[in-house]
Amino acid sequence: MHISDPRIVASLAELGVELRPGTQLSQLTFLGIGGTTDLLRITKHESIPDLLNLLDANHIPHKFLGGGSNLLVRDGELPWIVLQLVPPEPDVVLEGNFAHVDAAADLGRTVTFCAKRDLGGMEGLIGVPGTVGGALRMNAGAYGMQIGSYVREVKLYRAAIRKIETLRGHQISFEYRHTSFAPDDMMLAVTLELPSKPYKQILEGIRICNEKRRSSQPLGQKSAGCIFKNPPGASAGRMIDELGLKGFSIGDARVSNRHANFFVNEGQASAKDMLKLIADVRERVERAYGMALENEVVVWNG
Ligand code: EPU
Repeated sequence: MHISDPRIVASLAELGVELRPGTQLSQLTFLGIGGTTDLLRITKHESIPDLLNLLDANHIPHKFLGGGSNLLVRDGELPWIVLQLVPPEPDVVLEGNFAHVDAAADLGRTVTFCAKRDLGGMEGLIGVPGTVGGALRMNAGAYGMQIGSYVREVKLYRAAIRKIETLRGHQISFEYRHTSFAPDDMMLAVTLELPSKPYKQILEGIRICNEKRRSSQPLGQKSAGCIFKNPPGASAGRMIDELGLKGFSIGDARVSNRHANFFVNEGQASAKDMLKLIADVRERVERAYGMALENEVVVWNG
């Protein structure tokens, strides 16, 4: 989708929103898949209500992009524009054991920044790619921890009421790879409360998690992390592996040889190939195990 109306372009500039026409989403997603559209980069949270009113008044559909690490975007000319937050400088501010973090901050860098100041707890998240906002929305976790455990406050834009709001931690439910946020809520900032721990001890925790991750996940390849959520009491990766599907491919979309719940783009995979691979593997698992795997990857196919 392309914004060409000069009145809208002028209003965007007034709001301090940067317009990047013809952006290839394949450049902004870890899978390296996705078509082309206009990208709007937002520097001031306060401009969001006016921006969304402007888009709605002009019937411009939009989607909100975090770090692009858990996302599969359709091919071709996209029928919506994409909004993305630009992180402020600094994007993490500490106050005792509280870290005030912008949603656009990089998750790994945030964990490291806090660790260097003797604030731990999130060691398992160091290798999880993406933004803090993206991690928050899906309650990202690894190696026995999840970000939701540390959330004390979240600032978000609630599309349903067209307002920026602040929620306290107890008003949000965090479950396995799931939160109570509405699909059109836009994460803006979060306050985390982190336990004090000596940097050396945190580093050791990080080292152990990194080692486990390196030994079991295809880190150097284009992927969206795990494609499916684990069903209660089962491992999607193990089931796919047991069916002999490691290396199974459709076009350039392939089930990783290293971890069967990671699907990798080996070069020029299209969204179509990747979606076919996901559907095919899901069907085989359902036939063999009677379990319907739920996507963990977010799909923008509409
Ligand atoms: N397994 C296999 N074959 C495979 C993959 C796994 O047999 O191809 C077996 C492993 O040997 C192990 C079991 O399945 O006995 C579980 O594997 P793993 O420890 O890799 O954990 P997982 O359940 O597959 C989850 C998260 C990961 C997270 C790791 C570590 C989900 C869907 N995945 O993977 O998160 O990094 O635990 O905590 O919850 C992600 O969400 O994108 C992600 C990568």
